[in-house]
Amino acid sequence: MQLSAHLLLVAAATATVGHAAVWKITILDIGTRENTCSRQVQACQNNCGGPSLAPMAFCNSTTMAWGCGCLNNTPNMAVWNWPVPTADCSGSLNVCNTNCGASNATSACFENCTKTHMCNTEDAPVSYTSSSDVAIAPLYVGPAVSYKGDNLGNLNDGNDRSGLSTSSSAPAQSASNTNTQETPKGAATSITSVAATAFQLTSVTVFAAIAAAMMI
Ligand SMILES: *[C@@H]1O[C@H](CO)[C@@H](O)[C@H](O)[C@H]1NC(C)=O
Ligand SMILES: *[C@@H]1O[C@H](CO)[C@@H](O)[C@H](O)[C@H]1NC(C)=O
Ligand SMILES: *[C@@H]1O[C@H](CO)[C@@H](O)[C@H](O)[C@H]1NC(C)=O
Repeated sequence: MQLSAHLLLVAAATATVGHAAVWKITILDIGTRENTCSRQVQACQNNCGGPSLAPMAFCNSTTMAWGCGCLNNTPNMAVWNWPVPTADCSGSLNVCNTNCGASNATSACFENCTKTHMCNTEDAPVSYTSSSDVAIAPLYVGPAVSYKGDNLGNLNDGNDRSGLSTSSSAPAQSASNTNTQETPKGAATSITSVAATAFQLTSVTVFAAIAAAMMI
């Protein structure tokens, strides 16, 4: 099962032999991006209890920047389970396997892809796709750490992370005091601070990782 999947990937990788394929979520075709974005916004609205209770529920199908902030609750879906981070992880996994296939790698290479891309779990690589605003493109690439805070080593998805530190503190999941300056565009004044606080849960991982990267 596993082996035949690898063989298929090797075959599919012929076009990239000699060049590592590079993962970036925006290489997904526009239909897939729009579908993922639509599921992202819907998941956020559902999590908030309905569209009217989700003052910040966006996903830009051009950049895949996404954010979620509820009026009455902090979004309680684990970050690694939102549609955009899920698509980001599985795309990076596919490219990792493609790159193993393109380099005559041994099965250890494919096994590493599986180990470093435990999508939809806290061991998944942090997705740097969330943003504070629909018009602000996300980072896309950050330190190769899991949501749990483990250093994942080489994700083998073609992105150069050599200058990014993974040694600092683990990305927080529920810090409550950072990012309070964020004012989500379009959010009514009375709910701004609530929305910003709720938004933290989905964005704090990225901000913490950026902070970690800058503390080198
Ligand atoms: C893969 O192995 C074949 C045969 O040993 C070799 O000719 C080819 O150059 C190798 N490809 C890469 C990308 O290393
Ligand atoms: C697999 O990952 C381990 C641990 O990060 C690393 O030492 C090893 O070189 C990797 N193997 C391959 C084939 O990439
Ligand atoms: C989505 O991002 C693109 C590229 O940055 C930008 O041109 C566009 O205005 C954004 N969409 C919205 C609704 O802001």
